[in-house]
Amino acid sequence: MSLEIVILAAGQGTRMRSALPKVLHPVAGNSMLGHVIHSARQLDPQRIHVVIGHGADAVRERLAADDLNFVLQDKQLGTGHAVAQAVPFITADTVLILYGDVPLIEVETLQRLLQQVGPEQLGLLTVELDDPTGYGRIVRDGNGKVTAIVEQKDADEATRAITEGNTGILAVPGKRLGDWTGRLSNNNAQGEYYLTDVIAMAVSDGLIVATEQPHDAMEVQGANDRKQLAELERHYQLRAGRRLMAQGVTLRDPARFDVRGDVTVGRDVLIDINVILEGRVVIEDDVVIGPNCVIKDSTLRKGVVIKANSHLDGAVMGEGSDAGPFARLRPGTVLEARAHVGNFVELKNAHLGQGAKAGHLTYLGDAVIGARTNIGAGTITCNYDGVNKHKTVMGEDVFIGSNNSLVAPVDISSGATTAAGSTITQDVAPAQLAVGRARQKNIDGWKRPEKISKG
Ligand code: UD1
Ligand code: CA
Repeated sequence: MSLEIVILAAGQGTRMRSALPKVLHPVAGNSMLGHVIHSARQLDPQRIHVVIGHGADAVRERLAADDLNFVLQDKQLGTGHAVAQAVPFITADTVLILYGDVPLIEVETLQRLLQQVGPEQLGLLTVELDDPTGYGRIVRDGNGKVTAIVEQKDADEATRAITEGNTGILAVPGKRLGDWTGRLSNNNAQGEYYLTDVIAMAVSDGLIVATEQPHDAMEVQGANDRKQLAELERHYQLRAGRRLMAQGVTLRDPARFDVRGDVTVGRDVLIDINVILEGRVVIEDDVVIGPNCVIKDSTLRKGVVIKANSHLDGAVMGEGSDAGPFARLRPGTVLEARAHVGNFVELKNAHLGQGAKAGHLTYLGDAVIGARTNIGAGTITCNYDGVNKHKTVMGEDVFIGSNNSLVAPVDISSGATTAAGSTITQDVAPAQLAVGRARQKNIDGWKRPEKISKG
């Protein structure tokens, strides 16, 4: 059975009060529409049609991809009119209709819905609501068969009392869709072409309308304003947290934990409060992450310990290595096994060998550092001459004294030592001591300056 998906994303979203098109507002670091597209792709459709209107250029620019067909709906004349714009492109047996502002829909729910659709049957996702205000109501006959959807504004009192609401999500036989959308009229309370009128047409054509429900009503919740956006965000995060806990992660507080990307985790991982994981993060067994850490696009091998307030971006931390508190590991940082990075240490495009240490107040940029080398407190690589970047290379078992300036390009061989306070501008050979500072001289009987009187 071939499948195509239509995602409606043309609406304005006035209540967001934003220059950004509604569907580009983020949930968990990805646009709402991005989430819907991500779920749609997991159903393996032959094509995804995205109906855009308000902010069309911005939406297209942000999400352009080979499998997406953007269809412009010039004027927003209703959901039925929106779907009709995509109809000329559709050839598949089944069409699934989704919404760019309903981001939490689960693939499993959609798979259940798709099982309902066939040449003589369509699948409709409905939801039981405590307060159905604003929703289209699902009208059933005496045998419980769906006969129509009636919009709130067109409903009489009895119909408004129905608590089964239309989610808007439905799966229909592709061959019929064009016929139905072509017959829609806007003769209703809102003067719109309602997609929901397709249901009564299908019934009068002799089709059966089968319904499915989401396991969780938040799956079909849209965001019309920033309050609802925040509710979706919190729900997404709780769901993400639960998933990780089920895989063997202890979260000190699932309400103070955020995932904005794809995370894979091992077992017996411990994550303290206010940790944000962004992009692609791989966390192996027995990793401990302290409070207030932001970790983006990084890999943490078995037994890594990250202490409070550390920021990682594009870093790989080897087995048993540790960093922080207040460490900043920038793109291209690689720590080999058991390497140690302490407080107020910044690394960028730097490779720390096995067991190497940079304990305090240090900047290492464009550096390759051998195993067991120790970098003294306050050391910096002067890697940038204002125009070009240069490399600092250190061998194994090097000892860099405190407060060194290593002026790159410079090469310090294995076993070499540099004196505290040195400015190192020349290469150092194996086992040499480099002293790169002015010699101290002590002046006897020094007379301190006296204060000049102003009178
Ligand atoms: C729609 C349903 C209603 C359902 C509700 C669930 C219809 C007629 N009504 O009502 O039964 O209970 O969703 O939230 O379908 N859109 C376009 N182009 C348009 C109009 C809408 O792309 O011309 C998009 C909007 O951006 C939005 C979605 O379709 O993402 C729904 O449109 P909206 O106007 O919010 O429909 P509702 O009145 O909420
Ligand atoms: Ca709506």
